[in-house]
Amino acid sequence: MNDTAFFLGKGGVGKTTLSSAFALSLARAGKKVLIASLDPAHNLGDILGLRLSGEAVGVEPGLDALEVDLAYWVDKYLNESRAQMKANYSYNTTFNLDSFFNIIKYSPGTEEYAVLWAIEDIHCRLGPLYDVVVFDTPPTALSLRFLSLPVISGLWVKELRNLREKILSKRQAVTRINPDSPVAASCVDKDDDKIYGQLRNIGHRLSALELLFSKESFISVIVNPDQLSVDEALRIQEELSRLKIPLGAICVNKRGVSDMVWTQHPSLAGYPQFDFDFTREGIRTREELMDVDAATLATYFLTRTGNQ
Ligand SMILES: Nc1ncnc2c1ncn2[C@@H]1O[C@H](COP(=O)(O)OP(=O)(O)O)[C@@H](O)[C@H]1O
Ligand SMILES: [Mg+2]
Repeated sequence: MNDTAFFLGKGGVGKTTLSSAFALSLARAGKKVLIASLDPAHNLGDILGLRLSGEAVGVEPGLDALEVDLAYWVDKYLNESRAQMKANYSYNTTFNLDSFFNIIKYSPGTEEYAVLWAIEDIHCRLGPLYDVVVFDTPPTALSLRFLSLPVISGLWVKELRNLREKILSKRQAVTRINPDSPVAASCVDKDDDKIYGQLRNIGHRLSALELLFSKESFISVIVNPDQLSVDEALRIQEELSRLKIPLGAICVNKRGVSDMVWTQHPSLAGYPQFDFDFTREGIRTREELMDVDAATLATYFLTRTGNQ
């Protein structure tokens, strides 16, 4: 089912504002909606007017919200990896796993994986409880990295599976020639091999996330009537197309914020476009969020996903 929405765009264009207005609009139209912030610099709670945590809390009838605790997900990911490696390589005591993981904690990529597994958890564990899940995303660089991870890591895992198959078939060959060899005592069959099983499992999880991003999600890019936000939108568009993730809509937010003459960039003009005026009075309450008027976008989303 196509019931997940992501809003991407340059910092400050209104990702948190529009995703909240969109989620609120859907909830007030009778849907059961969860909005989840993936931005490490959380401000979803500020906009919705309540304190949020890693678990969903009720905002108003039909709308729940949470802010993903990235530090928790980084620790969880590293602890699980450590436990798995200890179990796989219990014979290898010379390798100091703990110091290795202390380094990994700060290595590039760790945060992206943590976001990815948080999305998986929300999608699989909480998704079935809601009609729609809306993600408020972090800055573009991080968003594009977690969106690309299932494809990139999927290729890695595929290669590692091939490698593991080769190792197992070599073991089989050695066992046939010399049944007394130490290798004969170890695993030679794919179906019994713990490492092959783990690679298969992670491969399935990544495929499910790839499917979520490329087939089951509605992805909008937000621009403001200014050049820099459009430049960033063009980069996002290019990256999404490289990843074969369809771009569902362009939201033009803060219309009228300046007197500058502005027309939509031709490369972005072919998508369904939704316009949102700049509210001079500012947006502080949920009622003011409703004034942003995401109802047209919400109706379009529901028609498109068949979730009416
Ligand atoms: N349509 C709008 N009218 C008035 N102010 C807006 C509008 N959209 C966003 N803002 C304001 O712009 C600022 C940045 O919005 P925010 O949603 O936090 O952006 P992002 O999540 O993309 O960084 C906030 O102060 C927000 O209230
Ligand atoms: Mg934000």
